[in-house]
Amino acid sequence: MKPDNTPIPTLRPTPDGAVEIIDQTALPHACRIIRLGCLEDAVQAIRAMQVRGAPLIGVTAAYGLALALAARDDDATLAAAAAALAATRPTAVNLGWALARMQRRLARLPAGARAAIAWQEAGAIADEDAAQCRRIGEHGLALLRPLAARHGRLAVMTHCNAGRLAAIAFGTALAPIYAAFDAGIETHVWVSETRPRNQGLLTAWELQEHGVPHTLIADNAAGALLARGQADAVLVGADRIAANGDAANKIGTYLKALAARAAGVPFYVAAPRSTIDFSCPTGGAIPIEERHGDELRVAQGVDATGQPGTLRTISPDEAVANPAFDITPGQLIDAIVTERGHCPATAAGLRALYPETGDV
Ligand code: MRU
Repeated sequence: MKPDNTPIPTLRPTPDGAVEIIDQTALPHACRIIRLGCLEDAVQAIRAMQVRGAPLIGVTAAYGLALALAARDDDATLAAAAAALAATRPTAVNLGWALARMQRRLARLPAGARAAIAWQEAGAIADEDAAQCRRIGEHGLALLRPLAARHGRLAVMTHCNAGRLAAIAFGTALAPIYAAFDAGIETHVWVSETRPRNQGLLTAWELQEHGVPHTLIADNAAGALLARGQADAVLVGADRIAANGDAANKIGTYLKALAARAAGVPFYVAAPRSTIDFSCPTGGAIPIEERHGDELRVAQGVDATGQPGTLRTISPDEAVANPAFDITPGQLIDAIVTERGHCPATAAGLRALYPETGDV
């Protein structure tokens, strides 16, 4: 929190033409702000997951392009910067969406006149993201209210971090939860740890910041809690939603969807338009990021004195697989919540919300 008790922004352009971000690799143990002053800083921040979460990756990439053009405003720089940023992380389509939007906006302008417009457009993408997440909160609350009315309180399970830290404000899956809590509904959140990178700790950190009651669980506890009726709904974000409603999200999401369906608990996916890839026919066509095995082998944390450190829990020789995302088929998703409302997780449902996309 800042001294005036407002949250520190996840990303903030500075008056001298740089960008400040919260280094999410240091959370929840320390809230460290770092400065991105050039394209390479932005590329590194996305790749190292100092910024993460689909919407925030998109906004950071847009500013990365603007930083590149501020250093050198010509066609070759624009193309090379877009390629470098696009190569950082493959699954979250918000990255490619933001870069394509920036390039469309800049294409009409002569070299030498683009840097200022790029900065403005990146700001517009950020502002729109915050506005869309706010509306996702309102539409998601409409789905949660009847559950809260039935149970006299609201218990929601989430996975990974799809909150304000993953976006500019509010987040996607956490936006309806914040809306419910702010509307005075007694709310409790089950926060799944989300091995191996533990993004659930980021969720716990920001729920704590907002004052929302929550409990952290090991990923493996989720099925038992759902089977026992301890959650009224599961609400997650997405990194890419295919045209048929299949959704890619953090690894482990699919298991929660299966357990929720078996327990008769509604399973909702919340995401803005920038996460929907109408050119991707099904979840099977979504690229899944495979990350370094050391994310499994080496635990990150702090020691008894609060100093950051690492602990090897698995031998370096042990073969490990580390797919970062999985696909939840649309049949397991009860609704997709976007800034326009909610719809069934089907091609027809998505087309009805976004008729301007036409047949895909
Ligand atoms: O690898 P990460 O931490 O970037 O993955 C993030 C997620 O999977 C989120 O659930 C998703 O991006 C939605 S964020 C609003």
